[in-house]
Amino acid sequence: ALSQTQMAERVWQIKESFGNKLFLPAHHYQKDEVIQFADAIGDSLQLAQIAAKNTQADYIVFCGVHFMAETADMLTQPHQRVILPDMRAGCTMADMANLIQLERAWDKLESQLGQTILPLTYVNSTAEIKAFVGRHGGATVTSSNAKRILSWALEQKQHVLFLPDQHLGRNTAFDLGIALEQMAIFSPAQNQLLGEQDISQLRIILWQGHCSVHEKFTLENIQNIRQSHPETNIIVHPECSHEVVVAADFAGSTKYIIDVINDAQPNTQWAIGTEMNLVNRLIAQHPDKQICSLNPNLCPCLTMNRIDLPHLLFALESLVNRAPIGVIQVDEQTTTDALTALERMLNI
Ligand code: 13P
Ligand code: SF4
Repeated sequence: ALSQTQMAERVWQIKESFGNKLFLPAHHYQKDEVIQFADAIGDSLQLAQIAAKNTQADYIVFCGVHFMAETADMLTQPHQRVILPDMRAGCTMADMANLIQLERAWDKLESQLGQTILPLTYVNSTAEIKAFVGRHGGATVTSSNAKRILSWALEQKQHVLFLPDQHLGRNTAFDLGIALEQMAIFSPAQNQLLGEQDISQLRIILWQGHCSVHEKFTLENIQNIRQSHPETNIIVHPECSHEVVVAADFAGSTKYIIDVINDAQPNTQWAIGTEMNLVNRLIAQHPDKQICSLNPNLCPCLTMNRIDLPHLLFALESLVNRAPIGVIQVDEQTTTDALTALERMLNI
């Protein structure tokens, strides 16, 4: 077996031999052992856009999760191959909404609400969910533009179905002045709304999905920091629960969190509620600021972390051997419809 150093040397060697025919984007939540090789580091939308602009590379080795690699495949040229170094690197949130559930839910909601409902999906969803949304007049949203896209959707229709992250949906709607009573959760398992509300009075129907990483930050975590370190600023991702977002000082996307920390004054104190690898990297990059995780006992995103040095090397060797593994290929019809939803978002 190769040592970590030998594996790293081999990755550099392969990267060099492919030159600009190989492009390696990596999400902020990736491990340092992978990030060191990244040609671009970004949040999910930035990486998709970067991949779309790169028309030279034959291989895009996408170090992130499955839905991001799908988006990269849909936005790149047909001759370009998108590789996910470990096919098990899914996203638990994206996997909480599949097409069968959504079609069943939509039939039910349309039978109750007629044509007064529009679907939106967070980019953290499968290509087939994005395609459904594209076919039904809706758009994708990211954590950076969710407010703009949701307010557009609310101008179009009386009701919005927000997939798959209930927390991003609730937090964004709340920011737009929608009362919690005007929102309800739709359970895909039960194929029905939870609670007793009159559906015609609702503005937002929240799919019952969540991020298994961000949902674990609690109000208690915030109260503990407030008590032990009252000077600390608390900043969280909007995939955290509503009570956590409301109790925090700042909330925003991955890019927003990074920008706030970069702009923060020296000697300021920060507790960050987002994925561990990113928090640890921010701690290392800002020795002049006191930064900690809002809950240091949480795990990193386990599926993201399936991409590690051995899997990356294995995927790269498969390119050398001209037998690529982990190729992500979204079918033509799904691509067309999903691009409709993505392009609608980019044009709003
Ligand atoms: P962004 O990278 O779009 O902020 O999303 C956060 C996330 O959970 C990625 O999986
Ligand atoms: Fe999915 Fe959450 Fe992991 Fe992002 S952090 S990939 S949303 S499970």
